[in-house]
Amino acid sequence: MRVLVITGAGISAESGIPTFRGKDGYWRKLDPASLATPEAFARNPGLVWEWYRERRAGIRKAEPNAAHEAIVRLANGARDFLLVTQNVDDLHTRARWNGKQLREDHLVQIHGDIFVTRCSRCDRKEHEDELATASPSSGGQEPERELPRCLDCGALMRPGVVWFGEQLDLANIHKVEDFLARGDCDAVLVIGTTAMFGYIGDWAVRGAGDSGQLFEINPETTPLSDVATECVRERAAVALPGLVERILARSA
Ligand code: OAD
Repeated sequence: MRVLVITGAGISAESGIPTFRGKDGYWRKLDPASLATPEAFARNPGLVWEWYRERRAGIRKAEPNAAHEAIVRLANGARDFLLVTQNVDDLHTRARWNGKQLREDHLVQIHGDIFVTRCSRCDRKEHEDELATASPSSGGQEPERELPRCLDCGALMRPGVVWFGEQLDLANIHKVEDFLARGDCDAVLVIGTTAMFGYIGDWAVRGAGDSGQLFEINPETTPLSDVATECVRERAAVALPGLVERILARSA
């Protein structure tokens, strides 16, 4: 069985991580869409860094939920599997099923990884733990000199995520395209995303091809609802364990 899973912020909602467009997504009355941009970083890097540091702290405290675990179960039961997540958290990586974790090559973080810090000018990349200059949150807007700077070129370091208006990483696009080129999927699951980016809907529809099942797991309708073969109007952590068993049983 070939399976493509696409996830968004809704899958981590029950782990306590706010979605982008939900009412908890706002931070200090600021819309995430106005903070997650290169322009916001150029204008006020201290503010943007503070937001990311708080989010990192929240994610570190969060635990994967039953939906993340069910996806590991599905990956282990499929012949060919890919998970494309728009989430920058690490809950898919930390989730376990029967002691197993997702294989690294089964996961594409298409919008980057919040625990990576990269240079805003050159190619230098670091994992958060390696940063020598990370300073604790000051509770206000941090002076620019306390922000992490690149050890190679001296420019400001920035979170290793994709911001609005930025290009996706080409290597990640190739991983998804290579997977799609290997043939239609038997099942495509789109979980907890408003699917507002064209490429998300496109990959889901192309993944299912002419004969695959396209499942949408989301309490709300989205632009994909009309083309889904089945819409599960439930929270992911409630719906996923049963749905995954059903998909695996049908393929057995
Ligand atoms: P959104 O915040 O746009 O959407 C979250 C979706 O999850 C909504 O459709 C909710 O109905 C649904 N949802 C909420 N709770 C749920 C639950 N418990 N179970 C299942 N679904 C639930 O988040 P994304 O669609 O992930 O990109 O946003 C996509 C991208 O836009 C993000 O990766 C980010 C953002 O701006 C960039 O920063 C480039």
